[in-house]
Amino acid sequence: MNSLADPKVVEILYRLHRDAELQKPELRKKAEAIRQGGKMPEDWAEQLRDFYLPVSREQGRFLYQTVRGVRAERVVEFDSSFGISSIYLAAGLRDNNGGILIGSELVEDKAATARRNIAAAGLADYVEIRSGDARTTLLDPGSPVDVVLLDGGSGMYLDIVQLLQPHLRLGAVVLADNIEAGAEDEQPYAKWVRDPANGFVSSSIEMKGGTEYSVWVGTA
Ligand SMILES: C[S@@+](CC[C@H](N)C(=O)[O-])C[C@H]1O[C@@H](n2cnc3c(N)ncnc32)[C@H](O)[C@@H]1O
Repeated sequence: MNSLADPKVVEILYRLHRDAELQKPELRKKAEAIRQGGKMPEDWAEQLRDFYLPVSREQGRFLYQTVRGVRAERVVEFDSSFGISSIYLAAGLRDNNGGILIGSELVEDKAATARRNIAAAGLADYVEIRSGDARTTLLDPGSPVDVVLLDGGSGMYLDIVQLLQPHLRLGAVVLADNIEAGAEDEQPYAKWVRDPANGFVSSSIEMKGGTEYSVWVGTA
């Protein structure tokens, strides 16, 4: 079974990706206007509250395959936006015969829409979206965590991976979007996960301008 071929999943992903594509010209203008001195302001998430900012279809399929490949039962996502990446991850969990995705989203309206989109895909049983700041809502994601998606921007990846690391099982996969895509504020994350002393094996893969692929191998 491949839930990405389920008509409900196909239909909602088609609609969400299409709507996200249609937003791109407006998003480019908006992002340019709010970027200050090359950096996004603290309240960028609020200013971009109407925008999807999603993973690509290619990344989504890769997320699905990763969840299937490591037989994941517990997945954590920073962050969920309107639920596109959540649907790919949850589809993998369903096809693994069950599991839970702990999603997170700062903007309450976005979290509510994500829940509706995930329900429309028929995947609500596999997802819990926690609304609020992920640095608080992901403090206790449960254990063991098999897969993590970092897609929240704003240079918080290092904080989040350090917060989640005690929950990772050996061999857990951490995928981080927007690494080496000119997002300088996120580079401390790449440096940290690439330092073998921190317990990861990590490198960048060519996907949507750079996706960091890290495997937790432990520090002992
Ligand atoms: C790139 S989007 C996520 C896209 C999503 N993964 C998808 O594929 O549809 C980043 C999201 O992070 C949210 N965000 C930003 N800072 C956050 C924080 N501190 N805690 C939780 N969510 C946050 C933003 O509101 C935005 O919706």
